[in-house]
Amino acid sequence: RRNVAVMTSGGDAPGMNANVRAIIRTAIFSGCKAFAIYEGYEGLVAGGKKFIREMGWEDVRGWLCHGGTNIGTARSQRFREREGRLQACKNLIDAGIDALIVCGGDGSLTGADLFRSEWPELIKELHHRGDILEEKFAKHKHLNICGTVGSIDNDMASTDATIGAFSSLARICQAIDYIDATANSHSRAFIVEVMGRHCGWLALMAGIATCADYILIPEKPASSQEWQDQMCSIIKKRRDRGRRKTIVIVAEGAIALDLSPITSKDVLDVLVDRLGLDTRITTLGHVQRGGTAVAFDRMLATMQGVEAVKAVLECTPETPSPMIAIDENKIVRRSLMEAVKITKSVATAIENKDFKHAMELRDTDFVE
Ligand code: F6P
Repeated sequence: RRNVAVMTSGGDAPGMNANVRAIIRTAIFSGCKAFAIYEGYEGLVAGGKKFIREMGWEDVRGWLCHGGTNIGTARSQRFREREGRLQACKNLIDAGIDALIVCGGDGSLTGADLFRSEWPELIKELHHRGDILEEKFAKHKHLNICGTVGSIDNDMASTDATIGAFSSLARICQAIDYIDATANSHSRAFIVEVMGRHCGWLALMAGIATCADYILIPEKPASSQEWQDQMCSIIKKRRDRGRRKTIVIVAEGAIALDLSPITSKDVLDVLVDRLGLDTRITTLGHVQRGGTAVAFDRMLATMQGVEAVKAVLECTPETPSPMIAIDENKIVRRSLMEAVKITKSVATAIENKDFKHAMELRDTDFVE
């Protein structure tokens, strides 16, 4: 009988609760004991019954449609240190857990894979210190890990969608629809700043879905002169044709060709100085992460939760840690480390100003 634990980590995302629910119930259905680790890696390091709790079927009732994550999340500093991971190893063994599913972004999943690869060393050290007895040492030689990707940013390679991205996108579009009315009334320009960290997916998709006038994203930097001229010419043409409102979407990670950030204030100055538009900035902030999950995220999170449990139960010590992805509408297993590696290489390509390669890696060449 296996003991499977689930944890959410990093920024919360709508659909995480649906994922946790599916994991808990699939684990129980498969004859395992199910556990939830509260407060992400912080809870894993803290350990004990407060943070590592056995969960029953009824404990997750109604979670499918709850926003955020009911088991809490954190960006843990302590888990980044080896000492923290050693403590986390002991806490898992004390609780009898032998498989861990982490729902989070690339940082959280990298941490999970590192933990798995260090596990044999960590457990040896604990055994050597006398912190765990022979029987437990023999029983917990390996930790099976699986990642499900929960992040509104949709910035993970190897999967078409991360859990929460479509909910966040829906929220952004709804907000822009609201802004449209007031922009139209006053014939104003609005700069809408959206989240996404170093990824422009939310900004780009929201721009397409709301017919924004201009979109600035990290993957397609331009010189100041270039983006300003292009933006002004498009907006002027549209205004000349009678359009009363102007919407410019700025991804929070938008950058110019020299890699300096393009801020909403930079855009405002251009719209005011060059086009004389009455302009306001709306930073959507955490409203984009809150609220309930859209149907797609509930389905994605549920199907991935089921697959994640199957994956940890089938994994052998030799299997590379899997990450559950969606690829062309199919739920599939991918190598977690490979996905993290490609994700990180996008950032490197941008740092090296190889934007074309960054876009190829992101698979967003249609941005052109
Ligand atoms: O990764 C999710 C995300 O919402 C990003 O889009 C954003 O940059 C960041 O988290 C905000 O983090 P915090 O909630 O810690 O301010």
